[in-house]
Formats: sequence, C-alpha cells, structure tokens
Amino acid sequence: MLSQPNAQPATTAFGSRIIALSERLAQWSESRDGLTCTYLSAAHRAVAAELCALMRNAGMTAKIDAVGNVVGRYPAADPAANTPPSARTLITASHYDTVVNAGKYDGRLGIVTPLVVIEHLHRTGQRLPYSLELIAFSEEEGVRFAAPYIGSSAVAGRFDMKLLERRDANGVALGDALRQAGFLPEAIPRLARPPQDLLCYIEVHIEQGPVLLQAGLPVGIVTSIAGAVRHLLTVRGVAGHAGTVPMALRRDAAAAAAEIVLAVEKRCRATPTLVGTVGRLAVPEGAINVIPGACELTLDIRAGDDATRDAAGADIFAEIEAIAERRGVTIEAQEIIDNAAVACAPRIQQLLAEAVARAGVRPLHLPSGAGHDAAMFDGCTDLGMLFVRCGNGGVSHSPRETVSAEDADLAARILLDVLLNFPSPP
Ligand code: HGY
Ligand code: MN
Ligand code: MN
Repeated sequence: MLSQPNAQPATTAFGSRIIALSERLAQWSESRDGLTCTYLSAAHRAVAAELCALMRNAGMTAKIDAVGNVVGRYPAADPAANTPPSARTLITASHYDTVVNAGKYDGRLGIVTPLVVIEHLHRTGQRLPYSLELIAFSEEEGVRFAAPYIGSSAVAGRFDMKLLERRDANGVALGDALRQAGFLPEAIPRLARPPQDLLCYIEVHIEQGPVLLQAGLPVGIVTSIAGAVRHLLTVRGVAGHAGTVPMALRRDAAAAAAEIVLAVEKRCRATPTLVGTVGRLAVPEGAINVIPGACELTLDIRAGDDATRDAAGADIFAEIEAIAERRGVTIEAQEIIDNAAVACAPRIQQLLAEAVARAGVRPLHLPSGAGHDAAMFDGCTDLGMLFVRCGNGGVSHSPRETVSAEDADLAARILLDVLLNFPSPP
C-alpha cells in the first residue's frame, strides 16, 4: 500500500484550481449568455484543444481520438507496466460536452478533478504502479444527434456504427459532421479498449440532486446508475384555420401532445423512484393563427430498476394509443436509447468508501438518477463513481449549478488517495 505523500498541497489548493479550470473551460460557449457546448461545435473543439494542452502540461501524453475524446495518459513508473500484456490501465473520465444553457460542473468536474490530481503527481515526481488514463469524453448528453454516450461507448467498445446516419436538426448526418471536423468514422471501432487491459473505471461527478446537501455531506459513493428509455414522438393531426374550424372538428396535434405530457406526469407520479420527462415539445412551422397539424416531443423515462421503468413505459404507450384514437391523430414513436440500469462494482465502492472514511467523512452510498458515461463500461471493467455535493438545492442542467472549492478539494484528495492506494494489479 503506497503511503500518502507528505507533499500534500495546502488546503483547498486542489479546490481553487478545480473551480478556476471549470471557469476557464466555460469561456467557450455557442451562446453569448450562458454555457452551451454541444458536439463538434467550434466551442466544443476549442475546449478539446484546451484540455489537450492542460493534460500535456500535467506530464501526460495527450491526443484527440476519432470521436473527439481527449485522451491523456500518465504512464506507469515501470515501463513493463506500460506495455501489453502486463499493461493495466485505470481510466478516470467524464464528459466535456454540455446541455443547452448548462452549468459549469456537469461532466467537467470529473475531468478537471483528476487533472489537478495528476498535475500534483507530476509536480511531486510521483508515478503509479499502473498507467492512468484521463479521458474527456466528447459527447454524453446527446443534445445534437439525440445520441448520448458517443465518446464513452466508443472507448468501451459498444459504439453502434448505425448512429453515423443519425441526423441533427439541420439534417447533417453524424458521420458527415465527424468528417467535416476532420475525424475518420471508420477509425471508431479501433478506439475500443481490450477489457483485459483495464484495471477499472472511476468517475467523479456532481450529484445533480439534493441528497448530499440534505445529508450535510460533501461526497457520496454511487451504488447504481439509472437507465433511461428515450423516444422521439411525432404527433400528426390536421392543420387548419384558427378562426374557422369548430373545436369539435379539430385534430389538434399540440392538444394531443399536451394530453401526453399530463399522462406521463400522472403515471410517473404514481411510483417511487420512477421519473418521466417531456424535455422538448415543438410545433414545426407553427403559427399563432394555425391549428397545429404536427407536434414533436421527447420522452425520457427512468427508474431505480428496469422492470419499474418498463412497466411505466408500457402504460404510457397504451395511454398514447388511446389519446391518438380519441383525437383522430397518429403518433409515431422512435426509440433513441434504451439503457439498462447499471450497478457499481462493490470492490470499487469499497475502495471509495475507505478513502472517504480516511478523509474523515461518513461514507454515504446513494443511487444515481442521472445517466453517466460510467454506465457504458458495464461488462467491460469494474466501474465506480464518486459524487460531489451540489449547492443551490442540488440543481443541475442549469446555470445555477454550483460546487464549493472545499468539496472539490476533498473529492480530489479522495481520488488521490484511491489512486495511490489502488491494489496492485494481479
Ligand atoms: O440525462 C442524464 O441523465 C445525463 O445528464 N446525461
Ligand atoms: Mn448532464
Ligand atoms: Mn453528466
């Protein structure tokens, strides 16, 4: 067991650097007011370049891979541990893309926290008995192509090449967008890491909820990651003049969509841990004096377990059919993701809990209602997550998302402890 180095930096030295780096990365945005950094935009590419430079300055080799992941590698002390078959790599990672009008810490905290730890290892001349990879995944949220986890699924060897035909709102196919950005889609399958090369996967992430805040704890250990089923729904009715068509003769697509929203809310309210969200709802080419002939909406259903989620999905789709029948509209559903709930490895939870306890914090184990890149590594290597407390009531996917320098500092120290004391590979 490697002992903690006495070269521990001053308190919150890690934390203030983590906050400063988060601010720095947030300067690149697609909008003047607020942070929006979606897949392959100019802002997204600028952040990737900045992360590459930061990783190199921290003593890592760094490159940008075929889907835009920024992959930093901090080689093991022993060269033999850097070459197969004995090469064993611990991956710590999270995503640098964001939702629209996002917070500064969702994803990025899980990049800059390990980065600051590796800067410390480099500065104090410390190497580990294994190679450490810090990966900044390029696309987790799935905002542009409704295809989440592009970066992590590629590294975990589960990228679906059919996604290259998925089109964005401007009709640009994912494959073309990659080529326009200078990437080679045909190289994607080669990004997959052989599972036998991996020691484990650990992700630091903001909790994105109120549990740690209410428990008065700065960090928590994740037990499981909820799986989401997401659909794009298209309701088709009959457009018409807002002034001349009597209400009883209408086939109003937006009114049908409104009923769907309320049906989702009612069904999901009925069961603990179940959540359902219509995050986007739009009348294409809508006008104030035209009865909506079409309406597009998204559906995201999740629960602590897949059976609860899927039972709710079946009920909701039965209700959608009834609404279509009653209102004389058609409703098309395109499933865009069906991710199973994933359990975090007990071994990694234990290592995290021991480091949290050594830091003087009561280890609290909690589930994640949010999806994370970590889930892509299920079946590939042992995975674990360390949650960091969110301020402002636990809000996330909002500019009001906030983390304290003290909590970030503690998360960095806990991660450093786990890395320094990680059991040597068998
Ligand atoms: O949607 C989620 O759970 C994650 O923030 N991508
Ligand atoms: Mn998110
Ligand atoms: Mn996230």
